[in-house]
Amino acid sequence: MAKKKQKAAKKPTSKASARKVVKLAGKKPAAKARAKSNGNGHLPRMSTKPYGQAGRALDGVKILDFTHVQSGPTCTQLLAYMGADVIKVERPGAGDITRGQLRDVPNADSLYFTMLNGTKRSITIDSKHPKGMDILNRLIKTCDILVENFAPGALDRMGLTWEYIHKLNPRMIVASVKGFGPGPYEECKVYENVAQCAGGAASTTGFREGPPLVTGAQIGDSGTGLHLALGIVSALYQRIRTGRGQKVLCAMQDGVLNLCRVKLRDQQRLAHGPLTEYSQYSEGVPFGKAVPRAGNDSGGGQPAWLLKCKGWETDPDAYIYFITQAPVWNEIADLIGEPTWKTDPDYATPKARLPRLKKIFARIEEWTQTKTKFEVMDICNALDIPVGPILSMKEIAEDESLRATGTVVEVDHPTRGKYLTVGNPIKLSDSPAKVERSPLLGEHTEEVLSKVLGYSASEIADIKTSGAITPPKKEEKAA
Ligand code: COA
Repeated sequence: MAKKKQKAAKKPTSKASARKVVKLAGKKPAAKARAKSNGNGHLPRMSTKPYGQAGRALDGVKILDFTHVQSGPTCTQLLAYMGADVIKVERPGAGDITRGQLRDVPNADSLYFTMLNGTKRSITIDSKHPKGMDILNRLIKTCDILVENFAPGALDRMGLTWEYIHKLNPRMIVASVKGFGPGPYEECKVYENVAQCAGGAASTTGFREGPPLVTGAQIGDSGTGLHLALGIVSALYQRIRTGRGQKVLCAMQDGVLNLCRVKLRDQQRLAHGPLTEYSQYSEGVPFGKAVPRAGNDSGGGQPAWLLKCKGWETDPDAYIYFITQAPVWNEIADLIGEPTWKTDPDYATPKARLPRLKKIFARIEEWTQTKTKFEVMDICNALDIPVGPILSMKEIAEDESLRATGTVVEVDHPTRGKYLTVGNPIKLSDSPAKVERSPLLGEHTEEVLSKVLGYSASEIADIKTSGAITPPKKEEKAA
């Protein structure tokens, strides 16, 4: 058995073995899984363990997490959920600024921090202290990925330039979030709503008559964190072939624009005539030069609108989003008591309906107002009519099914007690998410120094007195 294992781990040395791999490409999956090298490593044997018991997707991946606030932390938290060992480096005594922002429980880390930094370890290091830099050097040599979202130039000012890091660890992937990519704004500091405005989201959100609007979904921060996570795992995959790390950059403006792709689509369509699916068209309002704000219009080709449901007078969330999808038009007409609209030439085709959308939705709303949003949901889904209830955060927090799938998770924290967090929204069938509470500031400093970096007890004692991992004394702070 031991011999067999050794054989599987042996590297291919000849052209013949490389040819064998190419040949195997046409064979059955099981045979392929048993195949050896692709020239840069070894394909492992297919696991015989049941699904969900073969570890996590990113087991063994170590991340030096230099992130703060929201964009970077969302990225590294996702990677932690996938199994990566995320070591969050924080400034001694202060930590990530969000620990104290929007605090709801006195002397406890805020939900802002705890919900973005679960499943990570926290180590405090003053990167501007020589001994702190020694620790960082060791971390760079040990870790696979450095993730940061400092203001432009801050990492370089610490001495951690790409050239320096690459020399120390050529395999390291250096992943950054910045507000803007190279160009006139590259030096700017950027927060969520700045990115929403610069990425095209705000100008296309809201009602035509009103000002631009930012959205509650954190597409600038969490959206860019998500983009960065994809860049990181892609770079990890490429590293298997190339053996070297690379820089991964996600600009928040780019991330937002990527999510606003359909609006850039509409900008180009404007050159060829009005956007007929926008309610502005059915209202006879001419289009200007840029994509207008479209209220609650659907971004796709199926007209839709937000409609009141029973109880809307007192409940601000008693609404349903109703899509008049063409294939179920007959069902909609029957449901709202307008069976003649199935054959009436003014209503029977999607094109004929376009100039009458306002009237159509007003009629549908007469019907939805007689039902609760959940009743509309049940009735319409039975007929394959796509609708979406407006769920309040209270309803989401209490939703049993979201708890059951691990999308909403309750974790226990030593100073703030139990809190809800969003678990991994990405479900992998062989990699169960690891959702744990966030660490206290510096909770794992000694553990990482000794177990990950191999410092001895006396070296750690030395570091402690040096001030590299402890908060500056009052007099130093004042100075
Ligand atoms: N030890 C010592 N110093 C540390 C440290 C540590 N462990 N960790 C951070 N610092 C220092 C840095 O060296 C830097 O100092 P310097 O400016 O003197 O070089 C400073 O702390 C970090 O500053 P910065 O990133 O500029 O923080 P900020 O609070 O002024 O700005 C942002 C915050 C978010 C605006 C800015 O980081 C940014 O634009 N980031 C990129 C875009 C982004 O991610 N925005 C979304 C945030 S949700």
